[in-house]
Amino acid sequence: MSQKLNSGSTYTTIKWTDSVFLNMLGVILFGLTLFILLYCVGKKEPAHFPPGPFALPLFGNVFNIAVKQPHLYLTQLADTYGNVYCLRVGQEKTVFVCGWKMVKEVLVTQADTFADRPYQALYARLYNQHTGGLLCSNGKTWRRQRHFAMGTLRTFGLANGTVEKSICQESRHLHQAITHHKGQAFNPATVLNSAVANIICQVMFGKRFDYNDLNLRQLHTMMTEMVYLEGSVWALIYDAFPTLMKHLPGPHNRIFTNFQALQEFIGTQIKSHQLDLDPDNPRDYIDTFLLQIKDKENRELGFTEENLVLCCLDLFIAGTETSSKTLQWGLIFLVQNPHIQDKVQAEIEHVIGPNRFPEMADRARMPYTNAVIHEIQRMANIVPLNGTRMATRDTKLGDYVIPKGSTVLTILTSVLFDKNEWETPHTFNPGHFLDANGNFVKRNAFLPFSAGKRTCLGESLARMELFLFLVGMLQKFTFYAVEGVPLRSEGTVGLTRSPYPFEIRAEAR
Ligand code: HEM
Repeated sequence: MSQKLNSGSTYTTIKWTDSVFLNMLGVILFGLTLFILLYCVGKKEPAHFPPGPFALPLFGNVFNIAVKQPHLYLTQLADTYGNVYCLRVGQEKTVFVCGWKMVKEVLVTQADTFADRPYQALYARLYNQHTGGLLCSNGKTWRRQRHFAMGTLRTFGLANGTVEKSICQESRHLHQAITHHKGQAFNPATVLNSAVANIICQVMFGKRFDYNDLNLRQLHTMMTEMVYLEGSVWALIYDAFPTLMKHLPGPHNRIFTNFQALQEFIGTQIKSHQLDLDPDNPRDYIDTFLLQIKDKENRELGFTEENLVLCCLDLFIAGTETSSKTLQWGLIFLVQNPHIQDKVQAEIEHVIGPNRFPEMADRARMPYTNAVIHEIQRMANIVPLNGTRMATRDTKLGDYVIPKGSTVLTILTSVLFDKNEWETPHTFNPGHFLDANGNFVKRNAFLPFSAGKRTCLGESLARMELFLFLVGMLQKFTFYAVEGVPLRSEGTVGLTRSPYPFEIRAEAR
């Protein structure tokens, strides 16, 4: 490492680069030590903070979580660190809570403390700094909008039986679409997405869409991709480094473009409602919301056109992805367990018969079918990590202190498969919901819809959809695997847990 310098007529060889190199190395090492020291001092946990694995400077545990099945990894960590532990995502610490007892403590016992969603850069960009929509807003806007959405769901469907009727009518379209495959292999995801989406579309927009509507099919594909990416490592990295990620190419950008496309679709529905809005005769959620916007005092509570788009979007996404995927898992589990499919069909035959459409009133006389649907939901584990919460005050969880502002994730997987609560946690077993006499029994640890103040807003609607669609399909068809192609029980995990694309056969009964 030497260099020749021309100094007048003679060449002087000085070994100066060696010393420059050593000096630079010294500066870098000093900088690095200072960074680690400052990092350790800055990141010193408060007293009695939950423990957790070693976190890298800057990235924290992002790469630990970025495994294919994060819900399983996060559940397993409880074996090492206990049911309340901490990981760092970028610079932010997140508290993870596992097992029925501790999750109940967060969601139910301390419901007021953990009712808010924390700041997340990704959702701040999508949801107007967390002030918009139903899923991510907080405070009085969220309370008012949640109350309004639940009331409107009741008015336009749950209270007067309209939704029940529209699910039965939609079942006819679904059965036609399945019959169309003439017993050949098909992927049921497309028709189930359309059938389920049409129910929430009728409540929101007052209309259904044809299963062959290419525009809507494309929106479903975008929605599925978006929900996957929102629960992927890309979302974690975006939240950790938003300023940088905003300018970098990568899959995370599709979250924003897909969201935009969905917003435009909703915007079109709203515009057409504005053209023929009759104040004395609101037809659906959009009409009712538009009438609230007319009152200027309501703006503060989120009754604006911009927020109408976001609330519709939340209802559309939360109301389609979840129920449709549960039904897809249901078909997979029933094909994998043909003796259970047989028993459900026998009960349908006995209580409803082959011709009459199922009604919600039938459920009370169908304990076995009811138990099977509950077990489908438990094993499907559709929202494996639940929605994110935030501690709004300093509080205690078990032996640990959770400071105000901490992000908290209650891992629903750890509840739905809690070995202290379920006899055979990893086996599909409708017996979990039946007593010795075959009567249906409720179970405390059945939490697919979460619990407490932010529990799923669409639970009643979802339960209706699952019962009526599933019973309707099993009344008319028997489902089989495609020969030589076993169905997989593991799935892909984003915000929701989806089956890998699969095909089955349906034979008319
Ligand atoms: C099988 C079907 C469904 C499952 C498993 C499910 C599950 C969940 C879960 C786990 C949450 C998070 C709750 C929390 O953070 O504690 C949630 C929230 C939500 N769900 Fe569902 N859901 C389903 C169907 C629906 C339907 C049909 C709708 C539409 C009406 C809907 C609308 C919502 C909304 C708006 C929220 C946000 C509530 C809030 O933050 O206040 N869900 N759901």
